[in-house]
Amino acid sequence: MTAAPPPSPGESAPGAAPSAGSASAPALEASGIVKAFPGVLANDHVDFELRTGEIHALLGENGAGKSTLMNILAGLYRPDEGEIRLDGRSVAFRSPRDAIEAGLGMVHQHFTLVPSQTVTENILLGLAQPRFLLDARRSEAEVARLAAEFGLRVHPRAKVWQLSVGEQQRVEILKLLYRGARILILDEPTAVLAPQETEELFRTLKAMTSAGRSVVFISHKLNEVVAIADRITVMRRGRVTAEGQPAAGVTKRDLARLMVGRDLFGLYEKTPFAPGAVLLAATDVEAESDRGLPALRGVSLEVRAGEVVGIAAVAGNGQTELAEVVTGLRRCNGSIRIGGEVVSNKPPRDAIRAGVAHVPEDRTGVGSAPNLSVSDNLIMKRFKEPPVSRGWLIDDGRTRTLAEELKEDYAIAAPSVDTRVRLLSGGNLQRLILAREIETAPSLMVAVQPTRGLDVGAIETVHRLLLERRDKGAGILLISEDLDEILALADRIDVMYEGRIVGSFDAATADVHEIGLLMTGGGADEDAAAAADEGPEGVDLGPVAGPDPEPVPGPDPGPDPGPEPS
Ligand SMILES: Nc1ncnc2c1ncn2[C@@H]1O[C@H](COP(=O)(O)OP(=O)(O)OP(=O)(O)O)[C@@H](O)[C@H]1O
Ligand SMILES: [Mg+2]
Repeated sequence: MTAAPPPSPGESAPGAAPSAGSASAPALEASGIVKAFPGVLANDHVDFELRTGEIHALLGENGAGKSTLMNILAGLYRPDEGEIRLDGRSVAFRSPRDAIEAGLGMVHQHFTLVPSQTVTENILLGLAQPRFLLDARRSEAEVARLAAEFGLRVHPRAKVWQLSVGEQQRVEILKLLYRGARILILDEPTAVLAPQETEELFRTLKAMTSAGRSVVFISHKLNEVVAIADRITVMRRGRVTAEGQPAAGVTKRDLARLMVGRDLFGLYEKTPFAPGAVLLAATDVEAESDRGLPALRGVSLEVRAGEVVGIAAVAGNGQTELAEVVTGLRRCNGSIRIGGEVVSNKPPRDAIRAGVAHVPEDRTGVGSAPNLSVSDNLIMKRFKEPPVSRGWLIDDGRTRTLAEELKEDYAIAAPSVDTRVRLLSGGNLQRLILAREIETAPSLMVAVQPTRGLDVGAIETVHRLLLERRDKGAGILLISEDLDEILALADRIDVMYEGRIVGSFDAATADVHEIGLLMTGGGADEDAAAAADEGPEGVDLGPVAGPDPEPVPGPDPGPDPGPEPS
């Protein structure tokens, strides 16, 4: 197998168009793949075929075995049984590096970039050639060229810590393209993207397949799958229930049935809106982002008992910081009261005591302790109360029973309550966090992207659980980038843009188009919007790689990104 060479003049650059096969020849075939983990058969004789030049969607419930299958194809896991063929030849990858050398790469749900390094440095990282032999400028130009060719807007010299999640994803994709990947596997790429970013990604995917590359696209969003896929494979409990069906003519209803084995019930009937006393009152709240820039610029809002207040905003407009100031995770100016008590700038413990539950955006960092068991994660907020605690002691038997009940009630798929949560599938981890938070019977719930990464059946369950809490008199602050979710759940909607609330609506009479326009800065002056587009949070890095054929990066933004060849 050959490694992608560093760019050198006259030679074909890395990332050059692959030799395109015939339109329907399989680029990749897997047959009879079996993979067992302790207590689960994650892949049970799975067959999968990816044709050259297609976008193939892989669908399935949480825990169905999608990521496992793709991790096997990408060389991260070894199958217990089965065969993988690349362009008709049998292959056995021992590592992701083997796979990428053979032209197959994967973008995982969690990124693997080094924050302190630049985009280009990250892309070069781990290449077989020693770094000092690489010509930094030429590599940078090559990165800019690939970025322009595939519409991956990101500046080659920006530091990764300055980038939004969407931009980091572009770097991950560029990294694979730079290494000459012909087959790209994207595991739930749109779960972390705002709607416009998703559209941009789709344009990139189309550009890649038109250039002879092949894409596996995992998503729980049936709209997206119907919109972008050429063919669809559905998995359910480790097996394939539909193999490579043409996407044309498939309905969302068909897909939902194939995934969950039943028709969905549709939305939970919302009872009429009967708000009570004010639970959360935020007044003139100002806060900074992690990058030290203004994130909240004078936000005032209220959440009353028995209502869902939805915050509609595109990622990065202050909504994450809003959730953090309310739950005591971020300092702020202004005041935040919960049930009349001031909680701003107090430790999270005070917010919890005031009855706040938090379903955070970051599931593995803030939301759970990956190396602890399902049981420990489920009870971590109530180890001081009965039935978990008995005086000074933790009652192991009662704890276990309680954890087993929660696991059952919330359908958390894990071999046992002793399983470490880092081994749970993405959707099952989210169910665990919801189980823990809802079961504390909070008076105020702050739910950030509560259904991100969940399958359609689970989304239905979570929506029902949230509305049940509201009907029992809880107030819910729902932060979501999914406008459909906000419209389905919220009683009132506040739109946030650049750290301010720019519109408030009664959900019953809200106009979707007006909300969409406000979310994207519609009405704001165009120059300001254009300026905001220039670099991460206004950091001026010079022109971003665009359709310009000239691949040279913009004016030097500072220190050189890497050593020059000596
Ligand atoms: N490294 C591992 N060790 C033990 N069990 C694992 C491991 N990886 C996955 N599993 C289990 O295998 C099953 C399939 O998980 P997988 O991550 O492939 O699901 P998925 O279809 O990607 O789900 P999701 O939509 O939630 O991401 C799950 O029950 C999961 O808990
Ligand atoms: Mg997965």
